[in-house]
Amino acid sequence: TIRRTKISDLSQLPFGTQVSVKGWVRTRRGNKQVSFIALNDGSTINNIQIVADIEQFGDEYLKPVSTGACIHVIGTYVESQGKGQNGEIQAEKIEIYGTADPLEYPLQKKGHSLEFLREIAHLRPRTNTFGAIFRIRHHMAYAIHKYFNDNGFYYLHTPIITASDAEGAGSMFQATTLDLNKVARTEDGSVDYSQDFFGRQTNLTVSGQLEGELGAMALGAIYTFGPTFRAENSNTPRHLAEFWMIEPEVAFYDIHDNMDLAEDFLKYLIRYALDNCKDDLDFLNEMYDKELVERLELVLAHDFVRLSYTEGVKILEESGQKFEFPVYWGADLQSEHERYLVEKHFKRPVIMTDYPKEIKSFYMKQNEDGKTVRGMDVLFPKIGEIIGGSEREADYDKLMNRINEIGMHTDPIWWYLETRKFGTAPHAGFGLGFERLILFVTGMANIRDVIPFPRTPNNADF
Ligand code: 4AD
Ligand code: MG
Repeated sequence: TIRRTKISDLSQLPFGTQVSVKGWVRTRRGNKQVSFIALNDGSTINNIQIVADIEQFGDEYLKPVSTGACIHVIGTYVESQGKGQNGEIQAEKIEIYGTADPLEYPLQKKGHSLEFLREIAHLRPRTNTFGAIFRIRHHMAYAIHKYFNDNGFYYLHTPIITASDAEGAGSMFQATTLDLNKVARTEDGSVDYSQDFFGRQTNLTVSGQLEGELGAMALGAIYTFGPTFRAENSNTPRHLAEFWMIEPEVAFYDIHDNMDLAEDFLKYLIRYALDNCKDDLDFLNEMYDKELVERLELVLAHDFVRLSYTEGVKILEESGQKFEFPVYWGADLQSEHERYLVEKHFKRPVIMTDYPKEIKSFYMKQNEDGKTVRGMDVLFPKIGEIIGGSEREADYDKLMNRINEIGMHTDPIWWYLETRKFGTAPHAGFGLGFERLILFVTGMANIRDVIPFPRTPNNADF
């Protein structure tokens, strides 16, 4: 028996080599003499053409070799008769692993809409489009670990089940084993979680940041990379209920170091995609977004603009632009505002800083003006906010004042507060939404199309 060769590796072989390939049939076409099978095994966007002699195999035998079927081919790798230097395989043996009845198999030769493919998320990875996207997603995950490893950051695993609300946004999924209809209630009517698995109320984490800060206060520079969960506002093309977030956190960093890190990191990832995902990017560029590669290169070509929220609001107010949501100092900027600044005004990514404290989380370092905090959002073309971060409030009293001002409970984060009591240090960090990055890199328009199994309202089927 011959060992299987991946389709991506075939081109390294000399013509004339006998090969074994296995994969799924994309299409089969041909005439009375010969059948051409386009075969894909996921290793590359490029199909290998299998040439099968009808006389040799028989019409009946080849009938079940239809779109979606899985086959094993043994044959000779030869120079293609048709286009260019591509090779093809002259089949000697075809073994059928699994058929896919054309009357039932939903993926057929014609192109399908992304909306339709979302309804068959269990099969869509078998399309060229989703093969390309998920390969790019893989390479980006690897590049993230490589970047941090090469720059002396440690990967810290933070919990998924937690008692705290890291963002103070209150949009959490609860993790409970209780039957909430039957549980004991305390005097004020709230559920008595003391009987629950953890003896208290717990949620799926919205962010690993708070635990990440503990890590930074010991290891110096850490990052997290894990799933996070948010139960609100996920009915948009840019929100998921379950998304992956990358959160570096660095001791002794101020907001400027943090901005430098964010810019260097994003540029590294985009460079990595251009260098390592060329075939898949070219395919997406051709099929969906003719400016994709150009847009990626443009991000690398310039420094990101850095400006304060106050300056940004002024530009928006003076733009004469009609926005759906009004702009005024204190407003939480919407993606239409962010995209105006990035796409129309500056024509490059923007890092916006020093937001009103009311629209940002409790842990951000407070500025002297008493009104703003050292938050920073990185705004990208087509995406809006891709990164959110800040320098952290390292002073115990200032942090406690803010917590009391907004009426937060300190009970679930007593351990976090101790970082400011014992050897506190200036530090900063940020969170990159992994799917927002993949949206940008692939040029796709809907976040549901860049994660294998999207979790959005009323959608947890696959
Ligand atoms: O701005 P956010 O809420 O910041 C944090 O969670 C901080 N704890 C990060 C930190 O400083 N360590 O979220 C960070 C990023 C956003 O910029 C966005 O890219 C992404 O996470 N994000 C989402 N992506 C998909 N679906 C959602 N519902 C998202 N919410 C946030
Ligand atoms: Mg944010």
